Amino acid sequence: MEKALIPLFILCFLVSSSCAEISGAVGVNYGQLGNNLPTPSRSVELIKSLKAKRVKIYDANPEILKALKNTGLQVSIMVPNQLVKSISTNQTLANQWVHTNLVPFYPETLIRYLLVGNEMLSGTDNSSWFSIVPAMRKIKKALKIHGAHKVKVGTTLAMDVLQSSFPPSNGTFRSDISSSVMKPMLQFLNRTKSFLFLDVYPYFPWSSEPKTINLDYALFQSKNITITDPNTGLTYTNLFDQMVDSVIFAMKRVGYPDVRIFIAETGWPNGGDFDQIGANIYNAATYNRNVVKKFTAKPPVGTPARPGSVLPSFIFALYNENQKPGPGTERHFGLLHPHGKPVYEIDLSGETPLSEYKPLPVPENNTPYKGKIWCVAAKGANKTALGLALSYACSQGNKTCDPIQPRGYCRHPNSLIRHVSYAFSSYWAQFKKTGGSCYFDGLATQTIKDPSYGYCKFPSVTL
Ligand SMILES: *[C@@H]1O[C@H](CO)[C@@H](O)[C@H](O)[C@H]1NC(C)=O
Ligand SMILES: *[C@@H]1O[C@H](CO)[C@@H](O)[C@H](O)[C@H]1NC(C)=O
Ligand SMILES: *[C@@H]1O[C@H](CO)[C@@H](O)[C@H](O)[C@H]1NC(C)=O
Ligand SMILES: *[C@@H]1O[C@H](CO)[C@@H](O)[C@H](O)[C@H]1NC(C)=O
Ligand SMILES: *[C@@H]1O[C@H](CO)[C@@H](O)[C@H](O)[C@H]1NC(C)=O
Ligand SMILES: *[C@@H]1O[C@H](CO)[C@@H](O)[C@H](O)[C@H]1NC(C)=O
Ligand SMILES: *[C@@H]1O[C@H](CO)[C@@H](O)[C@H](O)[C@H]1NC(C)=O
Repeated sequence: MEKALIPLFILCFLVSSSCAEISGAVGVNYGQLGNNLPTPSRSVELIKSLKAKRVKIYDANPEILKALKNTGLQVSIMVPNQLVKSISTNQTLANQWVHTNLVPFYPETLIRYLLVGNEMLSGTDNSSWFSIVPAMRKIKKALKIHGAHKVKVGTTLAMDVLQSSFPPSNGTFRSDISSSVMKPMLQFLNRTKSFLFLDVYPYFPWSSEPKTINLDYALFQSKNITITDPNTGLTYTNLFDQMVDSVIFAMKRVGYPDVRIFIAETGWPNGGDFDQIGANIYNAATYNRNVVKKFTAKPPVGTPARPGSVLPSFIFALYNENQKPGPGTERHFGLLHPHGKPVYEIDLSGETPLSEYKPLPVPENNTPYKGKIWCVAAKGANKTALGLALSYACSQGNKTCDPIQPRGYCRHPNSLIRHVSYAFSSYWAQFKKTGGSCYFDGLATQTIKDPSYGYCKFPSVTL
């Protein structure tokens, strides 16, 4: 334990100007993938009402950066993934990006972090992986040219940068990135006294193995479950610490034991699809309140591998975002509904005692749903888009849409919505096993109410 603590302490002592200023104050991720979100200035008011001290955005939206001027909120901005390759080979472009996106707002907007790409190492375009670090170097140089000395450069990583994570001491970076990307990245982060920006979601490992991993352990609620790492003797009382330490041990393995961690995203979904477990308001509120309490504890608690260290953080996310693709949970990570009303009470300063929050709705999906599920057209979906989705769904598989063809037994009544719902259900029933989802760009939604009518029986997924 002391072994991990001392180098960090020395590091901070030697470079006190950069360590002293980092606090455990909690921020929020302001994602904008919704077509119904409040304006930037209203959003900034809402961010303040949550008592967030930092805000992270996924671009450098000038309206938002303007609204954040003179608010005292620390800000993290991002170079979008699709620009990283070209910036990595072009210093002029890096200079231009900083000049256009950062300079007009600096220093009145407290831009402190500039992230070069978002979870790029989780993407399949492996040719782009090798441009991340060169782009980070060019952006760093551009900041220097423009005199923006307070801005740390990083990039965000998901847990899939690891190929093994259990026990935490076994944490190892994937072999396809370990020496080619992670080592130079850690060298850059260590040299520039920046952070490894990590997205940590205990929800994902728990929900994929809810029988193996205890829910209370994932929610920081367990009083009696501990896991001891046999190699280090370190004892874990929650899944979050386990995940963070596995990354710390992976860094150690490649020779960079002291790079600080910044929790770029963490959170828990407040809702999701019928085939998703544990996504509800009770668990989301419990997880987020507990993780905020941990982040804001004084003195800081750190993790078993780095006791007492500060973990600066951003909670994901400000809003439920209705245009995020993927399963339903993706659209339900918000602290706020799109119109600005809280999904549940939360105080990101950590000052509200847990006992002062009002009771939460009892969770109803903490065990897997058992029964049939259908996939139907979402209410109010665009008719033209539904027509296109119908053609797509029916072109997959051979007999997906036979019953709604002219002489099929589901042809009548000849209604677009019914035909689309049949096609979605039929598609999903055939392809769920191989990764097909009930989403269709937001045109589809799951239901447990059988949409069949008359002779027309809709195919279903049975859980
Ligand atoms: C680098 O970027 C600048 C600015 O966008 C552009 O004018 C120039 O052509 C680029 N250079 C190369 C070699 O692509
Ligand atoms: C990138 O992926 C392709 C296809 O999977 C593989 O053949 C290639 O070796 C990979 N390149 C690197 C540098 O990892
Ligand atoms: C440690 O990780 C390796 C893969 O890197 C794995 O094969 C091994 O089973 C892990 N050890 C334990 C105890 O889980
Ligand atoms: C990381 O940075 C520290 C402090 O600047 C330095 O002493 C150390 O040698 C660096 N580590 C590596 C592996 O370069
Ligand atoms: C922990 O406590 C709970 C509730 O008191 C109990 O149901 C559970 O069996 C205990 N688990 C262990 C591993 O002791
Ligand atoms: C409806 O969807 C079509 C096809 O995707 C699109 O071109 C059109 O703009 C959409 N209409 C509205 C009102 O969103
Ligand atoms: C469609 O039918 C052909 C020929 O019978 C078969 O080879 C193919 O695998 C089928 N495709 C699907 C998606 O079921």
